[in-house]
Amino acid sequence: MRVDIVTIFPDYFGSHAAGEGPLGVSLIGKAGGRGDIDFRVHDLRGWATDVHNTVDDSPFGGGPGMVMKPDVWGDALDAVAGDSADPGGTARLIVPTPSGQPFTQDLAASYAAERHLVFACGRYEGIDSRVPAEVRTRMAVDEVSIGDYVLAGGEAAVAVMLEAVCRLLPGVLGNEQSAADDSFGAGAGKMRGLLEGPVYTRPRSWRGIEVPPVLLSGDHGAIARWRRDEALRRTAEVRPDLVTSLAADPDGLDARDREVLAEAGFHFA
Ligand code: ADE
Repeated sequence: MRVDIVTIFPDYFGSHAAGEGPLGVSLIGKAGGRGDIDFRVHDLRGWATDVHNTVDDSPFGGGPGMVMKPDVWGDALDAVAGDSADPGGTARLIVPTPSGQPFTQDLAASYAAERHLVFACGRYEGIDSRVPAEVRTRMAVDEVSIGDYVLAGGEAAVAVMLEAVCRLLPGVLGNEQSAADDSFGAGAGKMRGLLEGPVYTRPRSWRGIEVPPVLLSGDHGAIARWRRDEALRRTAEVRPDLVTSLAADPDGLDARDREVLAEAGFHFA
């Protein structure tokens, strides 16, 4: 997969080659090192046309802050997405913005299946809205929010999205099952739609607290059931909105699931 990032702060992403910064370490660093992902970070100011390398201007209609200029962004995206090595140009543009659609595990999975992702990091009050509108006439464009809070720019959101995408690439995680079973597991996994429950490792007793005995029982059926019960309880406690979505597909809930949810205060017809 090829990943281009256009930003006015290329240093934010560190030096991939030196193994530093969000693209250089951990799973993402390894994926880059193996050549599974070809990262290219570009300084937006390289497409500015005046001596001050201006990338923003005051908003039409007035108001606070500055808006990023469409001419500079247009040239940058033509250069970065337009030279896609894929015949037919299959790049997908992702614009992080608090006013975008929510970033979800399903969206991460769909990005992991792409051949070329281009991230356009906005700053200030955002990018002139004609940019995504115009690019959309030629390629897929997603305006995406990583949560209901406002960051100073898209860079941190790109680091978040790339980490979620990279761990889904074949071979990156090592244990493929762990992606299928984690919270929001995008696979057809039996834990889909649930938060992950508690986990434990050695020692069996720590500061007087014992590991739940069922986990030591060797009874795989009982362990799987217990894990699902715990996942249901945790989801009911901290994300009742997810339980409501589960109930929309009643076939996904067995009798024991309903019992656990009823104890947590959720009753289904
Ligand atoms: N840029 C600023 N805030 C953001 C958010 N919540 N998600 C994505 N990009 C952003």
